[in-house]
Amino acid sequence: MTEAETLPILFVPDKRLRLKARPIGDADGDKVRALADKMLATMYAAPGIGLAAPQIGEGLRLVVLDIQPKEKPEPMVLVNPEIIAESAELAMREEGCLSLPGQYADVTRPARVKVRYLDLTGAKREIEGDGLLSACLQHEIDHLNGVLFVDHLSALKRNMILRKLAKDLKSQQRG
Ligand code: NI
Repeated sequence: MTEAETLPILFVPDKRLRLKARPIGDADGDKVRALADKMLATMYAAPGIGLAAPQIGEGLRLVVLDIQPKEKPEPMVLVNPEIIAESAELAMREEGCLSLPGQYADVTRPARVKVRYLDLTGAKREIEGDGLLSACLQHEIDHLNGVLFVDHLSALKRNMILRKLAKDLKSQQRG
């Protein structure tokens, strides 16, 4: 791993988390590579298994993830990722988010997805996954569209989590 600096992660209700991120173009080249390094460092330090650029205040369609960081690091960088196929079958698993620290809930999503993206060399790639990888891919791509995992919950459950988060963050500031 590179020794990249870490970046502050935005917390809900920061409005930048609700914006639709823009596609990355050729002109973004070097900036994207440096940003991906910093995002990976930030994700591993948090620690987390995925991070999307809007979470560090960059409105770009860039995602980093590593669903098994403790065993053997396998950092992935996805530029302009999009879901091109998803299963009719659904799966539920518990999710959390670095932008809603300490909050977790069961989220139901398609069990399997296929995602197309560009790697850092600009090569077209596809990844298909189920289980944790599927949930993580969908969760991070949601962030690029201003969507958070709590948006998949009932209004009642979502409001409970948002209230608890606000309380937790407030007591941390006082702490
Ligand atoms: Ni998240």
